[in-house]
Amino acid sequence: MMISRSAKKAVQSTLPRYFSTAGCASSVRTPVRGGAITFFPSTAKSSENVIAITGSRNASTVALGENQQQEEKVNGGSAGSSPPAGGNNNKGIMSYWGVERPKITKEDGSEWRWSCFMPWETYNADLKIDLEKHHAPVTFLDKIAYWTVKALRFPTDIFFQRRYGCRAMMLETVAAVPGMVGGMLLHCKSLRRFEHSGGWIKALLEEAENERMHLMTFMEVAQPRWYERALVFAVQGVFFNAYFISYLVSPKLSHRIVGYLEEEAIHSYTEFLKELDKGNIENVAAPAIAIDYWRLNPEATLRDVVVVVRADEAHHRDVNHYASDIHYQGRELNGLPAPVGYH
Ligand SMILES: [Fe+2]
Ligand SMILES: [Fe+2]
Repeated sequence: MMISRSAKKAVQSTLPRYFSTAGCASSVRTPVRGGAITFFPSTAKSSENVIAITGSRNASTVALGENQQQEEKVNGGSAGSSPPAGGNNNKGIMSYWGVERPKITKEDGSEWRWSCFMPWETYNADLKIDLEKHHAPVTFLDKIAYWTVKALRFPTDIFFQRRYGCRAMMLETVAAVPGMVGGMLLHCKSLRRFEHSGGWIKALLEEAENERMHLMTFMEVAQPRWYERALVFAVQGVFFNAYFISYLVSPKLSHRIVGYLEEEAIHSYTEFLKELDKGNIENVAAPAIAIDYWRLNPEATLRDVVVVVRADEAHHRDVNHYASDIHYQGRELNGLPAPVGYH
């Protein structure tokens, strides 16, 4: 567990700068710069290799001996804290568990600055997607789904009025739930039945992640007030459980509800665009996270972001109506391959 002070100094001076981490919480205008973490290229397998070095803190002190923990305190390390911005005062430690992330670069070779998503998860939104496509409710279940969503829109319109930035942010906190619940339940089903998922678990979890990225984007341009946070808390408690039960009872109905929710989302974002075009909402510069996630032009604006988000919602609409249609045909989702790369 012990390592001599001179040995540490020698290592600190010779270690190559390997990669840097950056937190993803940033203001729109201020790109976050995380502190650099330097570590042995070879994976640390024993506590002898745990050395306090310059960089962001990314390991639990549980893995450290008492002496190392003491040294952490001396060096200003803070267990469990987020990587601080700046760099000069950053203190870090090589992971005892050898799970460090390698250096990640963009296609142009520049350093990747996000830890919450990776370059290979970025994409160009399909802006050619048909925004008008609609599933006409014919069956009894379809009508329940359709009117449930229409009924939910009523209080939403009253609460948010024309504050579309805030509305988008709040609704994304709900929109990211169904994919996670559906994916989780399909995951459990796959385990219970010893059968493949047909790719649907991943597809639904990707949808949830995509919706969450919408939220991470919009919270850069609209800050929730305390009562809005409280509302999200309450709504999530109700909606998660309601959707969970709904999906257990009827995935056919649940996917149809989400399909209609996505149709409403497209409508909301279209209204958002109208307000931007009228000048009622300031068309500010696009958040940095959006520029990287959707591979937008560096000069992109909020309008460009809304356009790509709306295209995503159209994809979600298609995937969920498709999933519901599969159930309508009396088949299981895993009987047909899930859409690939469908955000
Ligand atoms: Fe969304
Ligand atoms: Fe969506």
